[in-house]
Amino acid sequence: MENQRKPIVFSGIQPSGRLTIGNYLGAINNWIPMEETHDCIYSIVDAHAITVRQEPKALREATLRLLATYIAAGLDPKKNIMFIQSHVPQHFELAWILNCYTMFGELSRMTQFKDKSSKNADNINAGLFTYPVLMASDILLYQTDDVPVGGDQKQHVELARDIANRFNGLYSDTFKLPNPVIGKKSAKIMSLQEPDKKMSKSDKNEKSIILLTDTDDQIIKKFKSAVTDSLGQVKYCDEQPGIKNLITIYSIATGKTIEEIELEFEGKGYGDFKMAVGTAVADMLRPVRTKTDELLKNKDYLEEVYKEGAERAARIAQRTLDKVQRKIGFIHR
Ligand code: TRP
Repeated sequence: MENQRKPIVFSGIQPSGRLTIGNYLGAINNWIPMEETHDCIYSIVDAHAITVRQEPKALREATLRLLATYIAAGLDPKKNIMFIQSHVPQHFELAWILNCYTMFGELSRMTQFKDKSSKNADNINAGLFTYPVLMASDILLYQTDDVPVGGDQKQHVELARDIANRFNGLYSDTFKLPNPVIGKKSAKIMSLQEPDKKMSKSDKNEKSIILLTDTDDQIIKKFKSAVTDSLGQVKYCDEQPGIKNLITIYSIATGKTIEEIELEFEGKGYGDFKMAVGTAVADMLRPVRTKTDELLKNKDYLEEVYKEGAERAARIAQRTLDKVQRKIGFIHR
């Protein structure tokens, strides 16, 4: 029904290279059930990706692959709006305006900026610094209620909220105040080699990460060589970060509870457990990988999806942008 508006969800993933199982379990997979209860908008945020250097051809490929992955994972392009960020220029227009309502000090406090600038010391560009403002624009253009993100993005969503609040206070209600939603299931997936560190797609050690493009064999091999400990018990506890991480992954891949898993592997060796985790993950990712590859062969279909997505997104975004421009004193064209 038109008048029974569902809450609006917005989220995005950067097409910067390779997706890990963390992106899948922590993000895309949690989005699927929301298509029934929310109006969902998912972007492939290529403009965010260029805050660090990207190889143009690789960026193009990663962008299309990410769209294909969204669909392969089960997001229905008819029920959700899916679009490529750079196709909806309203994001850039609002970002400039919001830059003027965001304080230097606020951006300086963003932990991701501090982190990324220390990792990219030779390229601390202004885009890296104002990145959260573009993200705020992504969110605020759609009058978003809920923003499903990983814990590392919570601070950015809170900033979007602060910016919205400031703007609303200076003019009048313009933006909906968004809430970060940190999924229960988006339990942090840690590196397989250094289980004290989050699994990161930029990890140089391939054995640390499970990529959505990994074959069954690669997946099983990586789990076999996962770092554990010498305690020899499959128990979910902080003293055994490696095993804890494997239990988390196995639990998500199979739907079994932690108690069930501890019971299942009582008295069994780590070898058996690692094999079971590897097999379960391979089983979970195989259909997504196969479907993604299939979709990538059908460029016409993907183009249809992203073109329609951009049109639908732009229509909504323009309504917000019009309001903003009018309120701040820009003359309507
Ligand atoms: N910054 C997010 C990340 O790196 C990606 C992102 C960009 C995003 N715009 C967004 C996430 C808007 C949620 C909403 O993970």
